[in-house]
Amino acid sequence: MTRVALVTGGTRGIGAAIAVALKDSGARVAVSYAGNDEAAAAFSAKTGIKAYKWSVADYDECVTGIADVEADLGPIDILVNNAGITRDGMFHKLTREAWREVIDTNLNGVFNMTHPIWPGMRSRKFGRVINISSINGQKGQMGQVNYSASKAGDLGFTKALAQEGAFMGITVNAICPGYIGTEMVRAIPEKVLNEKIIPQIPVGRLGEPEEIARCVVFLASDDAGFITGSTLTANGGQFVV
Ligand code: CAA
Repeated sequence: MTRVALVTGGTRGIGAAIAVALKDSGARVAVSYAGNDEAAAAFSAKTGIKAYKWSVADYDECVTGIADVEADLGPIDILVNNAGITRDGMFHKLTREAWREVIDTNLNGVFNMTHPIWPGMRSRKFGRVINISSINGQKGQMGQVNYSASKAGDLGFTKALAQEGAFMGITVNAICPGYIGTEMVRAIPEKVLNEKIIPQIPVGRLGEPEEIARCVVFLASDDAGFITGSTLTANGGQFVV
């Protein structure tokens, strides 16, 4: 049976790798993105996966965007809440705007996307919701009070909603990537990345986006039907829960 998957923030970084891996696994895939038209066009040209533009931080835009995707591909079976941003800064310098933007995208975005899709999954008695949280939601990270709070919130969301979905055939799981070699991580000051972060990773390297994508494909599969409410960590041993 061909499933329909939607990956938010799916034109770059981890999201792009997830979208491609889901397509390769046989799903019909759509991605959303918020702002970078050029990257979206390049992604679609390369992969044949259509990209839809809206902000996950806006509930009404999510409702409209989801309706567009479902009109094109059919009801969404697999939702990957991947869209996320950083606005790093030490707490004493953190602005209210940097707090709000990160919470709106990384935490409220998960609500805004899942809430409109959930009733359809319930009525069809099948669904896969996979939330891309972070190692920094598990352990906390200096310079990321906003991001760590949002990603920890995603874990609470996952655990609670899993209990509501379990008897309806819907699984809800989280993945906590460690430091993956994407633009987001490359934006960290080089000295901090090389001297503070990489030495903390026992496998001795950044992760690859495809290593996270393979976790998503497994959790999205029918084989993973008994796994719900779980947090899958993929961080090269940097933080052992
Ligand atoms: N781990 C350990 N030490 C860190 C650190 C980190 N992640 N980030 C900063 N530090 C240290 C710095 O090395 C520095 O220490 P020294 O003076 O001993 O060298 C001290 O903290 C102050 O740092 P800065 O001089 O860089 O201070 P700043 O005010 O210019 O910038 C900052 C602060 C914005 C937090 C900047 O250091 C930074 O961006 N750090 C990285 C934060 C981080 O890890 N972000 C993760 C982004 S990737 C991501 O979020 C994806 C994911 O899910 C994992």
